[in-house]
Amino acid sequence: MKGILLAGGSGTRLYPITLAVNKHLLPIYNKLMIYYSLSLLMLAGIRDIALVVNPHEKDMFKYLFKNAEALQLNLNYVEQDKPLGLSHAIMKACECPGFKDSPLMVVLGDNILYGHTLPITLEKAKEHLMKKGGAYVFAYHVPDPHRYGTVEFDQDGRVLSIEEKPEHPKSNYAIIGVYMFDATVSEKVKKVKLSHRGEYEITSLLEEYLKEGTLKVSLLGRGFAWFDAGTHDSLLEAGEFVATIERRTGLMIACIEEIAFRNGWIDKDTLLKIAKSLSKTGYGKYLKKLAEE
Ligand code: DAU
Repeated sequence: MKGILLAGGSGTRLYPITLAVNKHLLPIYNKLMIYYSLSLLMLAGIRDIALVVNPHEKDMFKYLFKNAEALQLNLNYVEQDKPLGLSHAIMKACECPGFKDSPLMVVLGDNILYGHTLPITLEKAKEHLMKKGGAYVFAYHVPDPHRYGTVEFDQDGRVLSIEEKPEHPKSNYAIIGVYMFDATVSEKVKKVKLSHRGEYEITSLLEEYLKEGTLKVSLLGRGFAWFDAGTHDSLLEAGEFVATIERRTGLMIACIEEIAFRNGWIDKDTLLKIAKSLSKTGYGKYLKKLAEE
């Protein structure tokens, strides 16, 4: 399975803080926002990643991830000329060599997901998808479903409908920004039509799978915390959440070097080398301690 990480978009909902800086490069406590979404792909064991960016911001991301190879990540930079929606970004990413015929995990760069069973949950979803095909998404109970793509179920848990930011949501379940698709996605995404919002919506792509009867929705229960850091309040809340958990446990959330190390992608010497380059920070000290444990 290959990965797509979406870091384009206009970021207008976060103005003025995103007037000069891309949203995904803003801090969530002690890391950049994009680390949290990247770590989800890495936790699912994915190293081949298409990173979708705005053309004028590509160099910034290239600079940020200049050492990605040292973490054994293969990043392909994909320019999305205009922020025409998530399906449009996926379609662009499918043009990367090898992506067209591969199952894909897509993560939105502003999503933060935390939970004790997260690696197992992602692994199970991946296994299901590799065996049965279709699309696999996660739903999360929220008080404000009109802000998201929502999903409606029947009493047996079968999906009845999906809607993007409905005025009158039929349920309180939001579809979070973590999706898995079988290899037919590169064809299905071409069928998506422009919505009344002027975007190629991700929900329209999911509807293609729903029509076919191959859309699986899994509920993330109370043991998970999910944030979409797309507004000033959610940005702050996510940062406060991460700080609270990290201070209390002494363990980091979404430390990409730690995940690479625990996945066996990098050895102790590489981890120590990265730690040394960050030695003045708590982040660097954390990596050093990890290597010496
Ligand atoms: O966070 C979950 C929600 O994300 C889902 O429930 C919705 O169904 C989905 O449409 C999406 O809604 P948002 O309003 O939060 O999407 P937003 O425009 O903020 O974009 C999500 C991410 O994708 C963000 O990190 C920027 C990136 N993006 C966005 C657009 C529109 C791109 O890379 N290209 C784009 O064209």
